[in-house]
Amino acid sequence: NKLVYGEKYRPQFHYSPKEKWMNDPNGMVYFNDEYHLFYQHHPFNSTWGPMHWGHAVSKDLIHWEQMPIALHPDEHGVIFSGSAVVDWNDTSGFFEGKPGIVAMYTSVDIYPESERSRQRQCLAYSKDNGRTWTKYKSNPVLTEETITDYRDPKVFWHTETKKWVMVLATGQTVTLYTSSNLKDWNFASEFGHNDGSHHGVWECPDLFELRLDDNELNKKWVMLVSIGDNPDYEQGSRTQYFIGHFDGTTFYNENPEETILWLDHGRDNYAGVSWSDLPKEGGRRIYIGWMSNWRYANLVPTEEWRSAMTIPRELSLVSTDSGTRLAQNVVAEFDSIRKRSFTSKEFLITADENTAFDMLSPLIEMGIEFENCDATSFGLMFNNDDNESIVIQYDVEKEKLSVDRTAAGDKSFSESFAAVQECPLKLGKGKISLHILRDTSSIEVFANRGTIAFTSLLFPNSPHERIVLFSNNGSTQVNSVKLTELDS
Ligand code: FRU
Repeated sequence: NKLVYGEKYRPQFHYSPKEKWMNDPNGMVYFNDEYHLFYQHHPFNSTWGPMHWGHAVSKDLIHWEQMPIALHPDEHGVIFSGSAVVDWNDTSGFFEGKPGIVAMYTSVDIYPESERSRQRQCLAYSKDNGRTWTKYKSNPVLTEETITDYRDPKVFWHTETKKWVMVLATGQTVTLYTSSNLKDWNFASEFGHNDGSHHGVWECPDLFELRLDDNELNKKWVMLVSIGDNPDYEQGSRTQYFIGHFDGTTFYNENPEETILWLDHGRDNYAGVSWSDLPKEGGRRIYIGWMSNWRYANLVPTEEWRSAMTIPRELSLVSTDSGTRLAQNVVAEFDSIRKRSFTSKEFLITADENTAFDMLSPLIEMGIEFENCDATSFGLMFNNDDNESIVIQYDVEKEKLSVDRTAAGDKSFSESFAAVQECPLKLGKGKISLHILRDTSSIEVFANRGTIAFTSLLFPNSPHERIVLFSNNGSTQVNSVKLTELDS
C-alpha cells in the first residue's frame, strides 16, 4: 500500500480513496464480520461532481480494502448520502426470508420542466455482503414536492415499537418517519425548528441511544445534525448534537432550545454518522466523520485524491460540570497499529526552557498531562526545519484550549484555511490531559475524557520532525508523556 499511498500529504492510517474525490461517509453497517464504509464519491474527478457510493471493507475499522463502486447514478439521478441496515427478518421481502443489507439513500435529479433540484429517497439491496447491489424496482419510496433540501436518510430498527425509524434532513429541521418494511414510510414528527444552530442547511442526521456514565440503566438518546456551509459563518460546515429522549415517534431535546453543543471544535469533521448493527454484546456505538470542510474541501492541495475520514471513534455519554456531554474516543482496534513507544516521568518546563522531543515518525500518537504552576499559557507544538508549526495551547486566563494552524504549512489555497480553532475549557484541579493523533496531514486532539475534540487538517511542506513543549510567563509541570510510533 505504501507505494500507491505514498504521495505528499497522503494519510497513512486514515481512510482515503485510492484516487479522486470523497465526501460524507455513507451506509456504514456491520455484517458477517465485516465493517462496511460507503462514501460520497466522484470517480472521474478530484472535485465534487455527480455522486456515486464508493465502498471499502475492513475487519478491524483501521485497515481498509477499497472495493468497486457500490452505487452508480441511475434514471432517478445521482446518489447522495444515506445509510444501510441489516434486515435480519427480511421485513422488506428482498431476501427470501434470510438476512441481507438494505441501503437507503437520496436520489437527486431535476424536476421535469424546472430548474429546481428534486431529492427523493430510494432503496437498494445486497444479497452478497455488500459486493453487488440491486436498486428497488419501485423507487423512489419517499418523495416530497415542496421541500428542496430533503435528504440523507439514516434508518434504524426501534426495538420497543418494532418499527424502522428514519431521520431525514428537511431544510433546517429533522423529520422522522416510521415503517414496518422499509418501503412504506409514515410521517412521525419533526424536530428542531428552534433548537440549536441554524447557521446553515441541516444535513446528515443520526439518532441513537447511549449509556450515561456506562450505566446500562441510565440511557439517553443523541441526535447528530450537520450544518452546511454558510459564507456568513466563519467556521464553515460543522456538526452539532442534541441529547434527550425518544419514544419511537418523537425526539425531545432535554436542553434549552438555545443550547448549542458542538461535536468538534476543529474545522475538519463533517457529516459524520454511526455504524448500524454492531454486535449487541459489545454495546458499542462507533462514529466516523469526513475530515474536511465545505468551505475549502475542493481546494485542499492534494490532486490524486481528495479527502480522508476521521479515525473511527467510540461514542459515549458522560456527566461533566456543565451537564451531560458526548465523548469520542479512538476505537480499541487502534492498538493494532501501535509500534514502539517512549514514556517520560514528570518534569518541569519553564518560560526560559522549552523541552523538545524528536518525533519517532511523522505518524505519532501522544498522551500528555500538563499541570499548571504559574504560567499564563502552556502547550506543545509540532514543527519542522522550515518553522512550520501546529500549536496546541491552553490559555490560563482566557480558559481556552486552542489548535492554531495559521503557520502550519500550505494555506494558500483558501483564505478560510488559516485558523485558530478554540473552545472554552476549565482546568479541573489545574490539570489537563490530551490525547493526540498525528497523521501526515491531520491532527486529532481529544481532551477531558473525549468530551472535547479538535479535528484539523494541516499541510506542512516537509514532515514535522519534533515536538516542542512550552510554558509562557511561568512554569508548567508535565506529569507524564507517552509517544507512540504508529504503523500505516
Ligand atoms: C453533506 C452533503 C449531504 C449530501 C451530500 C452530497 O456533506 O451535502 O447533505 O447528501 O453531501 O454529496
